[in-house]
Amino acid sequence: MTKYRIAWMPGDGIGVDVMEATRIVLDALKFDAEYVPADIGWEFWCREGNPLPQRTIEILQTCTCGLFGAITSKPKDEAALELSPELQGKGLVYSSPIVGLRQLFDLYTNLRPCKAYPGNPLNYRDDIDLVVFRENTEGLYSGVEFHPFPDELRTIITKYNPRMSRFEDIARDDMSVSLRVITTKGARRIIKKAFEYAQQFGYPTVTLVEKPNVLRETSGMMTRVGRDVAKDFPDIELWETNIDAQMMWLLKNPDDYGVLVTSNMFGDIVSDLSAQLVGGLGFASSGNIGDEFAVFEPTHGSAPKYAGQYKVNPTAMLLATKLMLDWLSESEMAEVLESAIAKVIAEGKVRTYDMGGDSSTLDVAHAIVGKL
Ligand code: NAI
Ligand code: MG
Repeated sequence: MTKYRIAWMPGDGIGVDVMEATRIVLDALKFDAEYVPADIGWEFWCREGNPLPQRTIEILQTCTCGLFGAITSKPKDEAALELSPELQGKGLVYSSPIVGLRQLFDLYTNLRPCKAYPGNPLNYRDDIDLVVFRENTEGLYSGVEFHPFPDELRTIITKYNPRMSRFEDIARDDMSVSLRVITTKGARRIIKKAFEYAQQFGYPTVTLVEKPNVLRETSGMMTRVGRDVAKDFPDIELWETNIDAQMMWLLKNPDDYGVLVTSNMFGDIVSDLSAQLVGGLGFASSGNIGDEFAVFEPTHGSAPKYAGQYKVNPTAMLLATKLMLDWLSESEMAEVLESAIAKVIAEGKVRTYDMGGDSSTLDVAHAIVGKL
């Protein structure tokens, strides 16, 4: 018996390349796991009409956690055109399997550390160590969207909020609405995770990034809950900032910030900006973490133009693997892996194209193995 069962989901495109690199490193670490391959991604949408087949969900239910490479995603109309002929016209609607996993397994924390490793030529500055906590299951990405906009809804919303009457002349076809749903439960658990992380890893502040002056109800709720949670962490300061201003400050003074916490879409934006400060997609890792299950992934997509060429940087995937080891409390192994990654970056001999080198994805994996 192995200690862990890891769901192995390379997905599409370069997801396959970076997962192969990861396996080389995990084997060298002698990580005691069984890897259970699970189907996910575009191929299964086209062939079966479901990018997240039921059998994959069943595999995940038997696993400790999952490692995920990347998937290809397309807007629903384009996606429908790529279905195999026998599935066309059946009303199948594409939806992202990774968003599906987050909701199905209630993986409410999206953890995205952004650390500048010394010697990375892509660092914006060398003193950056940000950790973004993005709420992963609600907010503007709840998936509660309407088009055409039903007349009944318009009537009832106008009854409760007269501002809606501004749109009364707009035809139902000419109007789309996405709901930004924030719950106290959702707000509390993500903010609490952010504070606990700050406490555990010694960050003096947690910055709550919202927009309560405009989004009075939803960001307002995040702010109220944030202040309440902060009372349980007297040693950590709560900073409240607005999303727009925060984007400027992150560029001006990135070293002022440690842990940042925010709702789903703002978190998507904050974490991509933060990732770019420390080298971009080749370095951006993330954990989708719930109370019992987690899926770790690089934040990049399937980069179709590089698929199967072993050209892309596996560091993001390997840093996601480090997050998995942290989550499994394999702290020593996590540290060994991170320091090997840092050494290869600092040494600067083995670099993929994004860092100005011409090494392959697997060269990087082998170089890291050499530093373990
Ligand atoms: P992408 O992240 O796949 O790639 C954009 C560009 O970033 C690439 O062409 C490449 O130049 C660079 N890049 C990405 N990963 C890199 C790495 N590890 N090393 C070096 N350079 C790297 O984003 P794009 O092109 O917008 O989307 C491609 C597909 O991926 C789309 O179908 C999109 O929907 C999907 N996607 C999936 C995600 C996921 O699986 N979580 C996230 C983002 C996009
Ligand atoms: Mg994103």
